[in-house]
Order: sequence, then structure tokens, then C-alpha cells
Amino acid sequence: MEMARIGATAAGGCRRLALSDEDRAARDLYIDWCRSADLAVRIDHVGNIFARREGRSPSLDPVGCGSHLDTQPHGGRFDGVYGVLAALEVVRTLNAHATETEAPLEIVVWTNEEGARFAPSMLGSGTFAGVHTLDFALTRRDREAITVAAALESIGYAGREPCGGHRYRAFFEAHIEQGPILEREGFTIGAVTGVQGLDWYDLRVGGEDAHAGSTSMAARHDALAGAARMITAIEDVARDHAPHAVATVGDIHALPGSRNTIPGTVEFTLDMRHPDAQALSDMGDAIRAECATIARQRGLELGIDSVEHTAPVVFAASCVASVRTGAETLGYPLREIISGAGHDACHLAGVAPTGMIFVPCAGGLSHNEAESATPADLAAGCNVLLHALLDHAAGTP
Ligand code: GLV
Ligand code: MN
Ligand code: MN
Repeated sequence: MEMARIGATAAGGCRRLALSDEDRAARDLYIDWCRSADLAVRIDHVGNIFARREGRSPSLDPVGCGSHLDTQPHGGRFDGVYGVLAALEVVRTLNAHATETEAPLEIVVWTNEEGARFAPSMLGSGTFAGVHTLDFALTRRDREAITVAAALESIGYAGREPCGGHRYRAFFEAHIEQGPILEREGFTIGAVTGVQGLDWYDLRVGGEDAHAGSTSMAARHDALAGAARMITAIEDVARDHAPHAVATVGDIHALPGSRNTIPGTVEFTLDMRHPDAQALSDMGDAIRAECATIARQRGLELGIDSVEHTAPVVFAASCVASVRTGAETLGYPLREIISGAGHDACHLAGVAPTGMIFVPCAGGLSHNEAESATPADLAAGCNVLLHALLDHAAGTP
């Protein structure tokens, strides 16, 4: 709740966009807490923060855990921040019990997980995992054309460590579920077995600026009216791939943005997900075909750029098993679950055995200022995380 004061919104949520002044304040506070817990802090070239608790065998690869501190524009208090603070809570608990682990532990804050300011999402973890080059990450731009590199400099988080190149024995991320299943079915812990696939596109519809009063309906090339048809077609494609498909147009700009000029240009985003790689690819094909037909019928130009593709992820059986064993040992009702949301753990899964722990959130609501979770469920997730980390760090539970 102290972290949630940074970027707090009137409606009880958080607005802490990646690499903003609020993100800087959150990072500063987190690092203060890490140093108070005797952790050694390093920051890499994309601003990922690593805080290390030494093990009895410092030469072993560490066991990692963490999540993100950035939020959506109308974000909640738990998405991301819970996983970061759960990791810190594990460290504090080990410190309080003077418990050593064989392998070191490293708790991590990944840069720009949300993708709300800079696309693609999961940028820091993706660069760490070698999915993106450093140059690609640093040259991403926000709507004001500010690059990631410039934003990192301006908040003082352009770190000195090379990004990537060090290994984890295992990696865990605790997170609120962001969906309704655990709450509805009465489970405290979700052992996440995988994450559905995701595709992000930028679409650009080109028509012709013209006078709203003197241009007949037959003569116009209205990019916004065309985009509206495309958005409806996108919804239909997702419905055609029910029950698992989802597709969202979350951001749209009509130019020049004047009531009495027919919009000649429209840019909009598309977020599309499915747990099955083939279905996701089929949806992409269908959407491209539908939008192209609408553009042709209306004499519009159409550009579709892919900005992110994350294939469906299957987490390591050894990590799912640790989560299960932890929950069983502690007596928490557990269910296996596939994540609808993307997570930094998706990229970590490419370079280390990775697992996730979900806890319920109220009404399944997330990416919403009202996002909420109970202290008891959050504590349960921390306890399971502790056990999973000890399991992989060969500590003594
Ligand atoms: C991350 O918040 C996502 O879009 O899944
Ligand atoms: Mn998140
Ligand atoms: Mn999120």
C-alpha cells in the first residue's frame, strides 16, 4: 500500500507508466527496501533491477523471482507490484529466520512489462532473454517519440550491467490471477502451467482529409468509418474462434482530429490472444483478409505492422511441481491454470525453468483501478513462493 501511493489515482488505482517520474520514485523506494534487506543491487542497460541475496555457494546460478513495477494508465495496486514485493517478502522472511540458501537468490524488477507506454510489452525481460536486441529495446518510442534510451537516462536508470548473459537455476513470478477462475471456484493458489499466445499489431488506415459539409457521402474516403468496420470485423473473428480467442482494440487516433474534417488517417492498436498457436495464426490471417476487403471496398489504404509475437508458453514441470508441493505442504487449495495475461515469466521460460503462482483477485478484475486482493490470499502466495524458491535453491524449509 505504501508503493501504491506512488502514482495513486483518485479512484484508488495507480498510474505508473514505464520510465516515468512515478516509475523512478517506485524504483527508488524498492531499492531502499532492498538495501535495508542487505541485498546487493545492480541495474542493467534496459533498467532491469537485480537485488541479490548471497548463497552458501556463490558460484551457483541464482534462483530468480520478481515481476514489474510499471502499471497501466488506469492500473491497479497489485498487477506486477505484488510479484516484486512478494519476492522481497521472501527475502525478509529468510533474513528474519537467518536461513541461508545453497544457491543465491536474485529478486528482479523488469522494465516496461505493461507495454502501455512503449510497445512491445515485457520489454526488459525479453531483452534479458535475448528475444530482443539491446538496440531494439533502447530505440522503442512512446507516442511523444521519446525513446526508451532517453527515458532511462532521464530517470537515472540507464544501468551499467550488460543485459542478459547470466543464468538462473529457476525463475518464479507471483501474480494476481487477473481473471475470475480462482475466486469463483474457491481456490487460493493457481499453479500456472502456461500462458496463452499473444500478437500485437499496429494498423494504419489511409483515406483523404476532406470537408465534412461539402463532400458527399459517395465521394469520401473516411478512414475512421473504415476503421470502425474493421474493428467490428475483428470482434467477429474473435467470436468465430470462441471460446478461447480474445481480440481488443484499445487505442485509436483519428487525424487530423477535427469535428468538421473527414478523418484522412486512423491509427489503432490490436491485441489478440489464443492458447493455441495455430488458432492464433489463423485469427491473424482472417483479420488481415477482413480488413483488406473493407479497405478495398472503401478505397482506403491499409498498413498492418506486427509489433509483438509471443508464442504460447508451457512452464517447466519441475517449477509447477514446486508450486503444487508448496501449496499442499501449507494446506492451500490449489488448481492448475493457464494465464490469460502475458508476464515477464513468458520470456524467462525461454532461458530458465520457470513457474508462476497465481492468487485470486476480486471479481477477476485487473487493468482497472479497482483491482483488489485479500491480505490472506496475498500472504498465501508469498508462502508458496518461499517454498518454491527454497526447493530450487536447495535451502532448508
Ligand atoms: C500484460 O499486462 C498483458 O497485457 O498481458
Ligand atoms: Mn503484470
Ligand atoms: Mn498488466
